[in-house]
Amino acid sequence: MSSKVRKIGILTSGGDSPGMNASIRAVVRKALNENIKVVGIYEGYKGLVEGNFVKLDTKAVTNKINVSGSFLYSSRCKEFETPEGMQKALDNCADQGIDAVVAIGGDGTFSGAEDLAKHGILAIGLPGTIDNDIIVSDYTIGFDTAINTTVNNLNCLRSTCETHSRLSVVETMGRHCGMLTLHAAIASGAAILAVPEIPFSPDDIISKVKEIRATGKRGMLCVVCEGCRLEDGTKLSEHLAYRFKTETNIETTFEKFSHVVRGGQPTVRENVTASQMGVKAVELLMNGASSMVVVERNGNIQPVEIHFALATQRMYKGTLTDEEKATFTQDQLDEMAYLCQRRHDTMDYLYQVSRDICHQHLTDLK
Ligand code: F6P
Repeated sequence: MSSKVRKIGILTSGGDSPGMNASIRAVVRKALNENIKVVGIYEGYKGLVEGNFVKLDTKAVTNKINVSGSFLYSSRCKEFETPEGMQKALDNCADQGIDAVVAIGGDGTFSGAEDLAKHGILAIGLPGTIDNDIIVSDYTIGFDTAINTTVNNLNCLRSTCETHSRLSVVETMGRHCGMLTLHAAIASGAAILAVPEIPFSPDDIISKVKEIRATGKRGMLCVVCEGCRLEDGTKLSEHLAYRFKTETNIETTFEKFSHVVRGGQPTVRENVTASQMGVKAVELLMNGASSMVVVERNGNIQPVEIHFALATQRMYKGTLTDEEKATFTQDQLDEMAYLCQRRHDTMDYLYQVSRDICHQHLTDLK
């Protein structure tokens, strides 16, 4: 297959996630095999604005696949969002001969890629975030490793909780998305969980934990997503830990699993999906595609327009305006609504599973 693309610039932007290196490696190896050059852009869009590049050959991506983080580093760059910043980025692309960019990150990263595409650079986004909060994709690079790291840490807590008959309130990452929390709580056998997408009541959580303790259970995990907040803005995790300590006689510890869960050796699932997505990005560019994000849907690796992906994010959050809606066909709007509903259903289903297997609801057969 012959391609008009001569040189791909690749970057990682926003919060890092395990598997990003596997995607970079896949893009580099696939591109080189197709006679396309690749240049690494350090620190995301900042490196594009400042002209911080590194030539990537086959050797440059050797021994990177099992390492977390991004060896191209990452940042969040405000200057790139200004007309001056964009002009510098375009000038640097021209200097380097970069005619296409692969950008790995979350929705902010995709907006940047879309802006580049509007200025004539072919641009493809890959979903890289531990949060799994991209609605058009069933999976984001980093999610599997982050759940496993979270569960490993929860398992460590579980044993000491059991020994000392303690409750551990654990705040988990995920920003406003409870996917990581739901999976980790189920997989670690947590007694209680709370996610932002599903209504919670601190009073109910406290009485449920008391009920569970009354059944004789010693160690308990209460897993709360960082995005859960009370009306006054207080974090639910901190509120619960304080109330358990002051209002109950259950010995309580408070743990925060934050940036540590962005590390960890990428799992098999991670590196396979990250590699598939990297290869797909190059194939798309070779076909002249642009302004697309590579997603996983029902096990298939496929492209979706960035415009559509970002609008679906906004529909999910309830912030899609009528003006924006008017830029889509009814079929597209129906598909967005379907994807949002599918995400809600997945969350509800996982939450129900966690409740169905909760200690409190178990009645031993006589
Ligand atoms: O989006 C990934 C994520 O790790 C979130 O789970 C978390 O809220 C956020 O990034 C933390 O961002 P930062 O690295 O800027 O502290």
